[in-house]
Amino acid sequence: MPLNRIGWEEFRRLDAKAKAAYFAEDGRLFHVLLAQQFDRARLEDLGALATRIRFIAKSDEGRRFLKGLLDARRAMLYFTQPSTRTFLSFCAACQILGLTIGEVRDPATSSEYKGESPEDSVRTFSSYFDLIVMRSQIAGLAERMAWVLSNAGRPIPLINAGSGRDQHPTQALLDVYTLQRSFENLGGIDGKCIVFVGDLLRGRTVRSLAVLLTNYGGLRLRFVAPEPLQISPDVCETLASRGVAFETGGDMESAIRDADAIYMTRIQDEWDAREGDSARIDISRYCLEHRHLQMIKPTAVIMHPLPRRKEIAVEIDGDPRAVYWRQMRNGMWIRAALIAAIFGRDGDIRGYDG
Ligand code: NCD
Repeated sequence: MPLNRIGWEEFRRLDAKAKAAYFAEDGRLFHVLLAQQFDRARLEDLGALATRIRFIAKSDEGRRFLKGLLDARRAMLYFTQPSTRTFLSFCAACQILGLTIGEVRDPATSSEYKGESPEDSVRTFSSYFDLIVMRSQIAGLAERMAWVLSNAGRPIPLINAGSGRDQHPTQALLDVYTLQRSFENLGGIDGKCIVFVGDLLRGRTVRSLAVLLTNYGGLRLRFVAPEPLQISPDVCETLASRGVAFETGGDMESAIRDADAIYMTRIQDEWDAREGDSARIDISRYCLEHRHLQMIKPTAVIMHPLPRRKEIAVEIDGDPRAVYWRQMRNGMWIRAALIAAIFGRDGDIRGYDG
């Protein structure tokens, strides 16, 4: 159902699941804003599409085919919050499919500096581009902008590339894709034990990934964090309401022994109420060191959305269970799959027989 069927105030008050009904058009993805809009079938389709793109991109002929799919389209990357991987992987995903890219990364170089509202900026982008990918430090801003676009003269899709502390749906997609690939020969994601470690309160990647994981059965999730940074009650409520077994607290060393996946995160001190607040929290027991490798299962995977600080020792990088660099590259493939699906070119990719 298009997002121009509902007023902003009414839409804003809906819960995430109800909002998600407005992000697809005729069953096809349009806006990508919340993890709640992805069901299991969609996650499996996108993963399969990403894998197909990955294989097609191995040959010159395949790369030319992919590049021809959206070469008449343009994407605007509007990233006013710092980003390396998300920005570059969206650039690369657009380039794989042939889209031309425009970017604003610093509002000081745009008319926002002259007092233009983000609403007017986004409307402006929509007159030149066919897709907006946006990252902002304001929670919920991407939803507001998607609503503005759908109600403006030229509705174009908007992808949320990280909004404040609340959501990072495309990171969660690449995390699920990494889990799908890691457990391909181990019975899939169902039934696995996944341990999250670090700043679980302010890490939006964990929030979005926890929502996506409610699509799987028999999971055991464990959230290990310093008490002030423990996962927030709204995530626990979502998990409980979907029947997902989870535990909070406890110590990292005992939790990782049982884990099929260990998802490490950094302390998000940019959100500190007062400078230095996080520095007072002892995180030494929430860091993975080389000596921990002997405690974890031979089939376990170590993940991280990156950037990292000290929470994963660099000496761990060479261990075959450390998949965070592969996880990062998976972001490019799943984002290419997502954009192809939004523009309805997924069928051409599936049908390609080169
Ligand atoms: C994450 C983010 O921006 O939320 N980074 C990313 O997109 N890969 C995680 C973080 O900044 O810690």
